[in-house]
Amino acid sequence: MFVVVLSTLLLVVISYVYLRWRQVRQYWAKRQVVHHPPHPILGSMTFLQRENPALWMRRMYEQFKEPYVGIWLFWRPSLIVNSPEIAKNILVKDSALFRNRFVHSGSTDPIGKLNIFTLNDPLWSQIRKRLSVLFTGSKMRGLQNLVTKKSNELVERIENERKKSKFVDMRMLFTDYTTDVIGTASFGVVSDATLTGESALRNVTKDFMKFDIYRGLCWCSVFFFPEMVNVFRFSLFPKQTTEYLRKVFRTIVDQRGGFETKVTEPKDLVDVLIKIKQDNHNSEDFDMTEDMMVAQASVFLQGGFDTTATTLTFALYELAYHPEIQEKLRKELQEAKEKHGDNLLEANVLSQLTYLNCVINEGLRKYPIMGWLDRVSTVDYKIDDHLTITAGTPVYVNAVGMHYDPDIYPEPDTFNPDRFLPENEGNIKPYSYLPFGEGPRKCIGQRFGLSNARHALAAVMLKYELRVIPNTPRPSEVKLERKGLFLSPEETLSVEFVPRN
Ligand code: HEM
Repeated sequence: MFVVVLSTLLLVVISYVYLRWRQVRQYWAKRQVVHHPPHPILGSMTFLQRENPALWMRRMYEQFKEPYVGIWLFWRPSLIVNSPEIAKNILVKDSALFRNRFVHSGSTDPIGKLNIFTLNDPLWSQIRKRLSVLFTGSKMRGLQNLVTKKSNELVERIENERKKSKFVDMRMLFTDYTTDVIGTASFGVVSDATLTGESALRNVTKDFMKFDIYRGLCWCSVFFFPEMVNVFRFSLFPKQTTEYLRKVFRTIVDQRGGFETKVTEPKDLVDVLIKIKQDNHNSEDFDMTEDMMVAQASVFLQGGFDTTATTLTFALYELAYHPEIQEKLRKELQEAKEKHGDNLLEANVLSQLTYLNCVINEGLRKYPIMGWLDRVSTVDYKIDDHLTITAGTPVYVNAVGMHYDPDIYPEPDTFNPDRFLPENEGNIKPYSYLPFGEGPRKCIGQRFGLSNARHALAAVMLKYELRVIPNTPRPSEVKLERKGLFLSPEETLSVEFVPRN
């Protein structure tokens, strides 16, 4: 009797799983959306931990050449959007319906769950609005001296490093620089990593950069299978690191007189967070808890340091292979220096230098650190006359795919800043260039990140000529990170820094 019951039960379970799988497998075919057949367990996620997602996204663009492609996050149907027009609808026109991201951390990971990158509405809108004050024109001007000082230190550091070895690990160098700038700008703490390679805050960002199999699994779950986060108690940031950041945060708050000391004119992220807590006290609004504060601090650090540093690393690596571009850039910088003297390294001067901006824009085209932008619709949504997606379907705008479309960017593998010259910019289709995302959920630190990149690039290029070190990989051969999900190099990238006369 027991065997009969057990066998029947087993048969029911197997039949259910089989029927469910059949339904899943036919999902996109039924809707006549192009797709590759899914793997029975991983769906379309077979590339995870084996290939950088940006390369996979590019394949999904190039193989199908269709406005959208059906995929599965394990068994969950999702959509890749390759069309700039549909991207515009999702990111901007209908952004009220696409406020939320799919990426999400679990209740076991408050720091991963409560930051503005992973938060969804209504809390996301409330916090994002309050944090935006950090990047106004006047706030950016207030950071001028800091960024200039740090970019000068960057040159000093390169000078010291090149005396020791020809091989300077550029990503390490630039993450030292960005840690200092973001650390001081956001937390008001002094960090001297640009000069020394070390600081308390730098230990945090070094931990953020370590991607082993465990951390890779944490990120894969948070980004593509959030239900697993609670099951395995995964976290977005390394737990010991956020605990350390919590202590740093408490110390800074204490030094400023605690949560009760009234903040009238917030000067950095810590002040803004304290002010939100004070303003919301006794109001109907959300309570700004300590977890929420540490969550914002963590995401500003994570979001700001490696993005800018990786952009600089790839841009300089490409420049070493293009002496003619270096020469054009050097000429522009030299002329600006003659005109502005010591004031050259001022944010408003640098932002006006056409070719400097073209070089950074082209670096971000070839190497958009987040190759895709994820959103979830809150309602059933008509993508076009042929397809309506159901509420809750994750959508990925394929930024990196568009950045390599030869119809929009001829010879996309060539590093060519001229594409972004004012006379050529008209050839770039609107919404096909998305290194910072678009719409209300676009990068909150865009102005700051760009300013930090301009300062560093200008300071370095005025002082050095960059040369390729023999037997190092060409840009097209550089191995990309496989454990982490962002577009960054897996190997050390070095160039020779040769002082200019
Ligand atoms: C070159 C530098 C940078 C690049 C390429 C970059 C890129 C991006 C991208 C693509 C997104 C997603 C946008 C979307 O989904 O539409 C994003 C979001 C974000 N970035 Fe950046 N970023 C950079 C610098 C920074 C800096 C300096 C900070 C902070 C100081 C920062 C903080 C954030 C945060 C907090 C979010 C989440 C915004 C939200 O969901 O509301 N980023 N960034």
